[in-house]
Amino acid sequence: MCIRDRSMCLASCEDFWGKPSMPFARIVVINGPNLNLLGLREPGIYGAKTLADIEADLRARAGGRVELQFRQSNSEGDLVGFVQEAGLDGAGIILNAGAYTHTSVALADAVKASRARMVEVHLSNVHARESFRHHSYLSPVAVGVIAGFGDRSYHLALEALLALPDES
Ligand code: DQA
Repeated sequence: MCIRDRSMCLASCEDFWGKPSMPFARIVVINGPNLNLLGLREPGIYGAKTLADIEADLRARAGGRVELQFRQSNSEGDLVGFVQEAGLDGAGIILNAGAYTHTSVALADAVKASRARMVEVHLSNVHARESFRHHSYLSPVAVGVIAGFGDRSYHLALEALLALPDES
């Protein structure tokens, strides 16, 4: 069922059966270590946009269809806390865990425990990079993975979450 304005949902939230749906009241966008340095950090790989630019673009893209919340931390424990909080709220999660993607059992456990529907996101195509970036602890607990589209990876993740069937 659409929990917001029905006409807004019709364009973008139709589930696979053609019924309007709005699976989340809120989506939390969680960014991990070093993503606070976007714009400065290896722009040839990660692009010229700052995290604030990405946030502004994503808010414009969401256009009021869903409430967006943004969180960033360089600390693994904080990220676990953000995932738990989002899960308890029944929010969807867009997660770019940065390097913790490749190392963090704790973050994968947090997603599993919270039963939150999470899309794993990367700006870069991690599979075209060093082999240590090819493994993700998060992919098995994600509903899907989007990588390699620069800041548009976040846009695609937003649309993917909004297109999920409502499970409530
Ligand atoms: C990243 C890819 C990771 O391998 C890297 O450690 C990052 C960013 C990406 O968005 O492409 O910090 O998650």
